[in-house]
Amino acid sequence: MIQVLFVCLGNICRSPMAEGIFQALLQAQKLHTVMSCDSAGTANYHPGMAPDHRTLKVLKSRGIHTAHRARQVLHSDFQTFDFMVAMDDSNHQHLQRMFQSANNPLSQIVRMIDFISPADNPQAHREIPDPYYGDLNDFEEVFALLSPGCQALLTHIQNPR
Ligand code: 4NP
Repeated sequence: MIQVLFVCLGNICRSPMAEGIFQALLQAQKLHTVMSCDSAGTANYHPGMAPDHRTLKVLKSRGIHTAHRARQVLHSDFQTFDFMVAMDDSNHQHLQRMFQSANNPLSQIVRMIDFISPADNPQAHREIPDPYYGDLNDFEEVFALLSPGCQALLTHIQNPR
């Protein structure tokens, strides 16, 4: 089983949205028997909480349900997950620091934005923007980045260059 962990700061906005999108792709492409995904936050701001209502609304409008509950990234995750996918540079640096102090880490740490083509990123974002203090439009913009990004990530995992 190839295991993928999506990581943001709070694990209530961006990473559970990515997890929901990626899980829907796995189901649709009948890959859920060979690949699985989860999400977590570098911070422990909202442990056990459901995703932000705006993330739930954006996912629901595409027919995606999630039962995810927020949790913090654990050092043991570096032994479990083949890929860790950071939403922004701060998450990426945090994961790289944790990797260095983990026992026998196996995870490959990547940045979500690196999988999104310029055509799917018209505003030329260099990170997945944090929508927490924004409005529903900001969550829609995150979805518009994560949707093609998740498919490109899935293709990459299946055909590593
Ligand atoms: P996320 O968004 O990292 O995409 O889940 C945030 C959620 C909560 C906070 C910041 C960002 N917060 O400061 O509580």
